Amino acid sequence: MKHRVFLLMALAIVVTMFVIGCATPAQPTSAPPTAAPQPTAAQAMELKGELNMLCTPQQEWCDGMKKEFETKYPGVTVNFVRLSSGEALTRLRNEKDNPQFDIWWGGPIDSFIAAKNEGLLDPYKAAGYANIRDPKLMLDPDGQWVGIYVGSLGFATNNDFLKINPNVKPPASADDLLKPEFKGQIYIAHPASSGTSYTFLCTILQQKGEQAGWEYMKQFAQQVAQFTKSGAAPVQSVGKGEGAVGIVFSHDIVAGIETGLPLTLSFPAEGTGYEIGGMGLVKGAKNPELAKAWFDWAIEPSTQELGPKYKAYQAPTVNGAKASKPELLQVKLIEYNFDYCGKNKKAFVDKFTNEIAKPPQ
Ligand code: F6P
Repeated sequence: MKHRVFLLMALAIVVTMFVIGCATPAQPTSAPPTAAPQPTAAQAMELKGELNMLCTPQQEWCDGMKKEFETKYPGVTVNFVRLSSGEALTRLRNEKDNPQFDIWWGGPIDSFIAAKNEGLLDPYKAAGYANIRDPKLMLDPDGQWVGIYVGSLGFATNNDFLKINPNVKPPASADDLLKPEFKGQIYIAHPASSGTSYTFLCTILQQKGEQAGWEYMKQFAQQVAQFTKSGAAPVQSVGKGEGAVGIVFSHDIVAGIETGLPLTLSFPAEGTGYEIGGMGLVKGAKNPELAKAWFDWAIEPSTQELGPKYKAYQAPTVNGAKASKPELLQVKLIEYNFDYCGKNKKAFVDKFTNEIAKPPQ
């Protein structure tokens, strides 16, 4: 009898252990890629029409992606306009009653969160969502936007400026940007037009708190030579020696260095802000089927590995796609609160424009 009780207890322990083992959730990053089923070549041939896209990343990547998509879907022509994040958002707002675009591809998700709050996006349940690396961070709970790439903010310093000023070091903190040697030497875009610049503004407001953050921004603006429209433009200005330091996403700085611009990349030691580049369907789009085909394609691992072919070194957001420059995210990143930055985008941009600096014309 004693023997049978012992056996039953042992069996119960084994069964309990098995059940606990089955209930342990798989780690998202180690999960095998579960990419959505792909259309066959015959199905791809059947898709026909014109897709109108708002494209926010660099022109070369937009051109390349258009070409790649048209190769996969020969019956589709992609028409795109490259607009910086803030300009794209304004465009969607103005065309709300008669949308001219079907899909918005790229640009930090702060603007997609703002667009969702203004009712400018349509929800979509893509099969590929199952393969997003970090759905909590990279996927809107209502499916109105999804993350398609990740990138960190960095500083680009002109090497000739460093040679002429041997005592000056590349900035290693946000406070370094306020040093006298950088007065009138900094290039950054304006946050009204640029998602890059808005990421910097919202990083400062989170790191320093709103009151001290706005004080900092006032002093910082005194250091700026010129606010540009597009986020990546300072790479060229500083690369040509028009200024000493540019504040830009690090992948754009690396792309500039690769084309031969004399730049040194540095990061703020206290932690840097970062973007999740987003994608969303425009509400009331005239070609929703084509837009969904692009949407599905853009979150396939093979599509996300196309970036480097077009000098785009942002990191992918899906399992099964390798980052081309993982070191750009192996720096200290802040816990960027996308929800806070997205919901306050209009208020923060208006405050910056009214109290600190007007956007370039
Ligand atoms: O140049 C590419 C890129 O840095 C993207 O990674 C980013 O989402 C986008 O530009 C932001 O552009 P802008 O600052 O002009 O809105």
